[in-house]
Amino acid sequence: MKFNVFNAQIGIKLDGLESRNTSLLAHGVGAHLDKEPLMSFISAGPADRLENLKPKRVTLNDTEILLIRDGENVYAGSADCPHKGAPLEDGAVCRGKLVCPWHKGTFDIASADVCEPPALTGLSRYAVEIRDGEVLVDPEQATDSTDKRQNRLTAVNAHSHIVIVGAGAAGAAALQSLVNNRYHGRITVVDPEADAPYDRTLLTKAVTAGDMEPDEVDPLVNQDDMDITEVTRLVAKVSGIDTAAHQIELYDGQSLTYDRLLIATGGIPIRPDLPGVNLLGIHTLRNIEHVERLLADVENTNNITIVGNSFISLEVAASLKQRSDNIRVKVIAPDAVPFEKQFGTQIGQYFRDLHEKHDVEFVEGTVSGFHGTEKVTAVKLESGETLETNLVLLATGITTDKDLLNSFTLTHQGLVKVNEFLEAAEDVYAVGDITSYPYNGEEMHIEHWRLAQQHGRCAAENILASLAYPAERKAFDRTPYFWTQQFDVKFEYVGHAKEWDEIEAVGTPEDEQYLAVFRKDGKEIAALAKGYPQLMAKMIIEMDDHVALSSVKAELEAA
Ligand SMILES: Cc1cc2nc3c(=O)[nH]c(=O)nc-3n(C[C@H](O)[C@H](O)[C@H](O)COP(=O)(O)OP(=O)(O)OC[C@H]3O[C@@H](n4cnc5c(N)ncnc54)[C@H](O)[C@@H]3O)c2cc1C
Ligand code: FES
Repeated sequence: MKFNVFNAQIGIKLDGLESRNTSLLAHGVGAHLDKEPLMSFISAGPADRLENLKPKRVTLNDTEILLIRDGENVYAGSADCPHKGAPLEDGAVCRGKLVCPWHKGTFDIASADVCEPPALTGLSRYAVEIRDGEVLVDPEQATDSTDKRQNRLTAVNAHSHIVIVGAGAAGAAALQSLVNNRYHGRITVVDPEADAPYDRTLLTKAVTAGDMEPDEVDPLVNQDDMDITEVTRLVAKVSGIDTAAHQIELYDGQSLTYDRLLIATGGIPIRPDLPGVNLLGIHTLRNIEHVERLLADVENTNNITIVGNSFISLEVAASLKQRSDNIRVKVIAPDAVPFEKQFGTQIGQYFRDLHEKHDVEFVEGTVSGFHGTEKVTAVKLESGETLETNLVLLATGITTDKDLLNSFTLTHQGLVKVNEFLEAAEDVYAVGDITSYPYNGEEMHIEHWRLAQQHGRCAAENILASLAYPAERKAFDRTPYFWTQQFDVKFEYVGHAKEWDEIEAVGTPEDEQYLAVFRKDGKEIAALAKGYPQLMAKMIIEMDDHVALSSVKAELEAA
């Protein structure tokens, strides 16, 4: 597939247009003549009606097209986000990028290429010209931008074998990135989950709420794309990694050799070592099989206890209450206020109030064990209290497979230490939830979907660089971002504030629009927002580019 990239400059007189094109315009929009490419240009309105940097959707010949004017240039691309179809006219244009309003997939406005996930593929582009002040667009399906690297890659690495272990967020993004970059060698993806790669974030939301069946969860990569590259998918689990021999072992006894290895095995939910923890009815949640088991049990219960007050915990609590008002949901945690460490007391209390309004109960305490003969019947607390229940979800954090990863440098939590290029050893890259990586002079560990995918993309590009043009390796420096959805309320968070001196807010968390900016030493380091999709988009781009956070500052000043 190829995308043609055209952009038009406002005010430039075009000599190349044939005279019949003029007459087509004179005769109106929608005329079409076969085999005459220029004849399919139709008017999308006056160029001076396009507001600078404000995307505009137009429908031309039943095709939804997004027009973007950036100074003297006009670009035309597809109007719906390839990730989940967000209307891109609600997105933000900033520093040559278009950012999707929903989950911050990011596209280069000139080339239409995807720059940041969770979108994994670029937009379609349409030919656009300016003539006599009119924007003319060819709504016939455009073709792909030619990748600059294609020739170099074809020549150098046609015989290389890249092995990806783990087809979750990071592994899938790496795979798609290799395909987008026209990698022509062999790729093998190993993952024991037959359904992978799929959108794990839906498991705590639409799936638990009953709005989507587990088998309807969106796949992450397009099968057609995989067919054009030599991708082998093994439904298998890796049992060992021999970095000296460039070889991995599978539990079924097979072994594979690699030229480059990408490890993206994600987290394993922690099952705390407590009496009764293996009773029936006690669940963890990481994958489709887990959610299927959980929901099968939910059908036969009305009294659910969630241990921990993490995002997984509160998203599931909200979704279960949305699934049925008759389900009693208790959240047990030692601390009274959820997300206090991440957002401070006031915002944390808002989340607790939101849940209490929907009858989620909060219990302060530390779980010491579980009662039951075969199936769980109660949770014991260190205080001596016993709480009856017939289903428990352990939302008590993740660990990693330390035995598998023991040939790398591990932190005391079992995270793989990688360098700025996401390398864990020679020819081995580690990405996503299993890593501790350097960021702004700190060791960072983040469990976010978009960030794991950014890791995957960066590592894939560094793998290709290492095969074809080593000087072009890139250090990973993207700004963390995540969203959470609880009771139809969506919050977005940009940056990373481990600690802060002050929080400046616009509105209150109960308002439809709310912005909280976290400052340390007088500098904005993070923001949490509700109802500010464009502002958050601009903030990500500005933080990524290390420039002043002009949009956020303007919003604070205006308030
Ligand atoms: C239910 C749920 C909801 C979430 N919702 C959000 C959200 O709304 N927003 C957000 O920002 N983050 C969310 N997260 C966090 C986010 O999903 C993770 O940060 C992200 O998935 C990490 O990506 P990863 O590729 O490192 O690991 P994963 O996506 O977990 O993928 C790891 C893959 O490796 C495979 N694997 C494991 N061991 C082996 C082995 N030995 N051999 C081969 N393959 C192996 C697994 O089967 C799995 O497919 C959520 C997490 C969960 C569990
Ligand atoms: S819909 Fe655009 S990034 Fe999700």
